[in-house]
Amino acid sequence: MARPPPLYRPELLAPADRARLDALLARIDEAADRSLGYPCSGRFDYTALYPFLGYPLNNVGDPFQPTTFAVHTHDIEVEVLEHFRAFTRAPRDGFWGYVTNGGTEGNMYGIYLARELHPDGVVYYSEATHYSVAKILRLLHARNIMIRSLPGGEIDYEDLHATIRVRRDVPPIIFANIGTTMTGAVDDLDRIRAVLADLAIPVAYIHADAALSGMILPFVDAAQPFGFDAGIDSIAISGHKLIGTPMPCGVVLARRAAVERIARSVEYIGTLDTTLSGSRNAIAPLMLWYALRTQGTAGFHAIVARCMEVADYAIARLGAAGVEAWRHRNSITVVLPRPGPAVIARWQLAVHRDIAHVITMPHVEERHIDALVADIVRGRDAGGNA
Ligand SMILES: Cc1ncc(COP(=O)(O)O)c(C=O)c1O
Repeated sequence: MARPPPLYRPELLAPADRARLDALLARIDEAADRSLGYPCSGRFDYTALYPFLGYPLNNVGDPFQPTTFAVHTHDIEVEVLEHFRAFTRAPRDGFWGYVTNGGTEGNMYGIYLARELHPDGVVYYSEATHYSVAKILRLLHARNIMIRSLPGGEIDYEDLHATIRVRRDVPPIIFANIGTTMTGAVDDLDRIRAVLADLAIPVAYIHADAALSGMILPFVDAAQPFGFDAGIDSIAISGHKLIGTPMPCGVVLARRAAVERIARSVEYIGTLDTTLSGSRNAIAPLMLWYALRTQGTAGFHAIVARCMEVADYAIARLGAAGVEAWRHRNSITVVLPRPGPAVIARWQLAVHRDIAHVITMPHVEERHIDALVADIVRGRDAGGNA
């Protein structure tokens, strides 16, 4: 059947509105080449997928279940999840997941699942945790206690031990950072499990926030423990970060048995309501699939190795200019002293108190680092305020 003509189409756009779009695109294009502080890769070409933008796609509901609404990409979404299952070493027949709107939704799902399983549990998270987690805890009315961080950003294991010790009657829900936002620190899951074992805790839940590092650690030679084989129960990974997509997205994976305990069947959509969002982005799974299929595991090994190379270049160049910069093992987050406001604004650097960071995402090259270092030196020579 022929489709009726589109309601919104190029020839209906007034010249002034066309000019408005052109100006917006030019501004974004210029800003994208100065994006060094936030982990959003802009190195992709999804033109092969543009024909899909001509359809009202919607991945409503559980990607693993049949649904009445047929204009979806659930089959592709399941393939994407299978890739992430392998990356995170989740049990082949015992995992579940979906493509989310980003890390925040994945973290909310993990804490939601944990709280449903353990309504009287207490969530422990470190002070280096992403700001959105405090909001999630408020939204979910989840009991929670903030744990101190060590200077490098890892959770303070002694504080965690001492805090759980006085609440051994309720299940701990550990929110572990697999790569903190500011310094890329990875909480040591072996040490966290040792704390739980030492206190003879019979029931616990561990959620891993692996927003950026979830797409780094599977591709390095000696990764810190981060996956289901290290005892986690769920994990959130962003898709728009290391992979890179034009819209925010991510994945969340959890143990299937846990999810089945909270699933509800909904007649209106003819499927299970297991996801947080009802209607869900169906283009994001396609883009993740396209990225994973075109690069493969070997491709991502090379991408991550190149990011590390640029990170080391940044540390060396900054060091040669008298700026002490560093990174954690297996991290592409280069931490440096907070520069002046003009440098922060020009290079869109994320800052926290007296530190800033550059994240050497796949679109960051040596020329960006050279220009950044030159600006820092110029600013310092001008008295530190530039
Ligand atoms: C460690 C960490 N967790 C969660 C998030 C939130 O992820 P998103 O922006 O994809 O919602 C971020 C974002 O930078 C992050 O760094």
